[in-house]
This record gives sequence, structure tokens and C-alpha cells, in this order.
Amino acid sequence: PTKTDHQLILMHEFAADMYHHILMNTEEGQEALDYLENRGFTKEMIEKYRIGWALPEWNYMATALQRKGFSEEELVSSGLGIQREQKNGFFDRFRGRIMFPITNESGKVIAFSGRILVKSKEEAKYLNSPESPIFQKSQVLYNVHLARNAIRKNRKIVLFEGFMDVIAAGKAGVDNALATMGTSLTPQHIKAMKRFAQEIVLCFDGDDAGWEAAKRAAIALNEENFKVEVAVLPGKMDPDDFVREHGKEAFKEQIIGKPHAFIAFAMMHARRHKNFQYENDLLQYIQEVLQLLAGRSSPIERDLYIKQLSNETGLSEEAILQQYRKLENKTIERSRPSAPVQEKAPKRDPKR
Ligand code: GTP
Ligand code: MN
Ligand code: MN
Ligand code: MN
Ligand code: MN
Repeated sequence: PTKTDHQLILMHEFAADMYHHILMNTEEGQEALDYLENRGFTKEMIEKYRIGWALPEWNYMATALQRKGFSEEELVSSGLGIQREQKNGFFDRFRGRIMFPITNESGKVIAFSGRILVKSKEEAKYLNSPESPIFQKSQVLYNVHLARNAIRKNRKIVLFEGFMDVIAAGKAGVDNALATMGTSLTPQHIKAMKRFAQEIVLCFDGDDAGWEAAKRAAIALNEENFKVEVAVLPGKMDPDDFVREHGKEAFKEQIIGKPHAFIAFAMMHARRHKNFQYENDLLQYIQEVLQLLAGRSSPIERDLYIKQLSNETGLSEEAILQQYRKLENKTIERSRPSAPVQEKAPKRDPKR
């Protein structure tokens, strides 16, 4: 780390302590503390994740940091301060938000995500620090510092969509928990996780966005040779909702403890919003599943899932298997490296 990186980390550490102090020990923090307690946060959890409160003032933190001796450049580079348009001073990026520190792998604070107390149309629910020399969203995983040992011990990562879910999981004793910072999973995330484990359980929100994100993540992780499983939540709940409604034990045992194999999950995904009374839905379902199998299944998996397809759809295993062989041949042709280069069809002149 450069000298600047070091300074930026000092600023974030200072800010985290201050936000945390305001939340825990001042009258101004009481409303936020009540909010957190209503959501099931204990004092221990607030301490463990160093949660804080940014006062709803225009330049509380900017002033404190400058008083501490940090320069204007550092203030802007950290993302904690924003220069006024008239260039006459700075204001705080985070105002009136519950502050969740984001740490690097050594546990040093490198960024924040701030949540508003009351959802509104005008303001984003979460506000993140901007990218900086010490914070790259596409690389950082929430909770690596705290989860690393548990991941090594379990030989497994549990990946969530939101850091609130990581915290809820921690409450339920699921310590090998990580989340991205709201972005979809990048190759850098996958590479970073590969250093810790080869197995992963995805536990994303039960809404449509969560299902889509889980499918994309599952495919990407599967291609990088992770053993992928997916823990599915009932209805549109997210993990945090589930823990609050059904308790820690149920979450740990029935959800995280009973994940679905990658292909089984993909089949559930393909079945969603389909009605097998409609031929098109039925055929599309079979096609989607077979395509998946053609890419990556073992003979035993193929047998298992073709049986399942037959049971679900009432079509014969023979017919499904024939369809599968067709797809498989196509897949093999496409991936054969020595296949002769096909001549491109002549481009159509759009003007004609
Ligand atoms: P709660 O509503 O507080 O329970 O949060 P959540 O964890 O359920 O959040 P949600 O499922 O809506 O989003 C998952 C993740 O996406 C969050 O942890 C954030 O990282 C990110 N995210 C959600 N909303 C926003 C937003 O308004 N702005 C940004 N930058 N990120 C967001
Ligand atoms: Mn403390
Ligand atoms: Mn969500
Ligand atoms: Mn959620
Ligand atoms: Mn939530």
C-alpha cells in the first residue's frame, strides 16, 4: 500500500469509530439504534460489524477529518467529503444514514455503505462510497475478514446478495458468509473466493431479481469449477426476513443446510412462471434443461434429471433422451477446437 492508501485507511478508520460512537453513546444516535434493535440487531452484532450513524448534518465528518489534519485532496479522494460546486468548502457524502463499514481482508475500513432510516422515493436506500484507490466495488466482498476462518473450516462459502443478509446469517451461526457490494458477481470476485474454498452455496433473495442473479452467479461459478449449490427461500423473502420470521435454527437447518444441486436449482429456475398446460412453456422448459445438461452433466446426472423431466412432463424418457442427444451433438460440434472454420454468410447490405 502507498502512503496515500495508508492515509485513506486512517480516515476511514477514524470515521468508522466516530459513526459508531455517535450511534452507541449519544442522544442523536438513539433513533437509529432503535431502528436497528427493531430489526433484530443486538449490541454485540452492532459492535462486531462496527455499525454507526452519520448525523444528518451537512459537514460534520468533513470538518472533523480536516481538523484531524487530513488534506482537501484526501477528503475528496476518500469519498467521505464532496467539494461544493462553488468550490467554497466541502460537505459530507453520508448524512442521516446508518453506516456499515466495508473492510479489506485485514479488517481495515476502506469504504462505507449507508442506509436511510425510512425508505423514500427521493433517495436511494443504500449509498456506497465511490471507487477510490483503496476501494474497488468489483473486487471487494463484504465480511471476508471475519468469514475467512469459518470458510476454511467449512471448506465452503455461503454467498448472499446483501450485507444485511450476511449479518443475519452471522446471527444464525452461519459465519462463512460473504456478499458483493450490490454489484453482480465479477471474475475478480470469483478469483478472490477461489483462494478460500472450492464449494459455494448461493443464498439470494426470493424475488425475481434474486432468482435471476442466482442463476447468473451459479453459471459463472460453475464455469470456474466451483461446486455450486443454491439455497432457496420461500416466497419473496430474503435471508434476513427469513431469520426474523422463522428463526435462526430454521434458517441454518432448513435453508442453508438443505441447498439444491446446481442443475436441480436451474430446473427450478426454468420452471418458474411456466404453466405446463401450455405446450410452449412445456417445450421451452425441456429445451432449457436439456441445454444445461448437454453442457455439463455426468452420465449419472443426465439419467437422474431426464427421469425427473419425464415425471414432471409426462413425456417418455426415450423421447427426451433423443432430444438430448441432438443437443449434445450440437454442443460437441461447437466446442470442437479443430472444427473447420465455417464460412461466414455474406453480410447483407442494409441499403438494399
Ligand atoms: P434491507 O432493505 O435493508 O433489508 O436491505 P437488503 O439487504 O434486503 O437490500 P436489497 O435486497 O434491496 O439489495 C441487496 C444489495 O444491493 C444491498 O446490500 C446493496 O449492496 C445493494 N443495494 C440495494 N439497494 C441499493 C441502492 O439503493 N443503492 C445501491 N448503491 N445499492 C443498493
Ligand atoms: Mn464499540
Ligand atoms: Mn434484493
Ligand atoms: Mn434483500
Ligand atoms: Mn432485506
